[in-house]
Amino acid sequence: MTVELQYIGHSAFYIKYNGYGILIDPFISHNPLANIDINSLKVDDILVTHGHGDHLGDAVAIAKAKGAKITAIVELASWCAKQGVKTLGVNIGGKLEFPWGEVWFYNATHSSAVPGSDDYVGVPASIVMNIDGKTIYHAGDTGLHQDMKTIGEMYFPDVALLPVGGFYTMGPKEASFAAKWLNAKKVIPMHYNTFDVIKQNEEDIKRYFDKNSSSECVFLKPSEVLNV
Ligand code: NI
Ligand code: MN
Repeated sequence: MTVELQYIGHSAFYIKYNGYGILIDPFISHNPLANIDINSLKVDDILVTHGHGDHLGDAVAIAKAKGAKITAIVELASWCAKQGVKTLGVNIGGKLEFPWGEVWFYNATHSSAVPGSDDYVGVPASIVMNIDGKTIYHAGDTGLHQDMKTIGEMYFPDVALLPVGGFYTMGPKEASFAAKWLNAKKVIPMHYNTFDVIKQNEEDIKRYFDKNSSSECVFLKPSEVLNV
């Protein structure tokens, strides 16, 4: 069965597999890149890497509208639960079983607070997903860190979703080393060109990936689907 990975824009993705719908970091209604119609999507699970508005996004509203469950680091999950939605609070490193696959939350080197507050909502995370033998790694918001080497050795991602916008996260050069360390077959650059401060040139991004990694660099347009 196909694992369909759809880019929404920024760090937001939608995965369709075996009748299940999974959203990651669903920043949609205020996302200048997004053109997807959320009402048309079936959503069972929403995975959120950290509390920042451009990642938590519409998670609570969508969870309410669709009856979907939000999975996040415990402190963030508990904040979401207070908004009246179903949640699963998790932490770094344990295997989580979903009807559609296996998930591990791992480190990201970043920070985490919910919009409109500096209240700490746990550590920021990255996410490894194994769906039907295919491995997808969503790096979240992060600087370059060497845990990616371990993730590469353990999970061999078929696709790595890596921030490349710079300023708040890795830029193209750092992300190209992440791709190498992750042993990723394909990389999909994310978290760039959404706002002025994270503007990047796609030719520069591709040049760095070609030079420093053996990963194939795939640029997805908003709403475009990759069959993993
Ligand atoms: Ni962030
Ligand atoms: Mn961000």
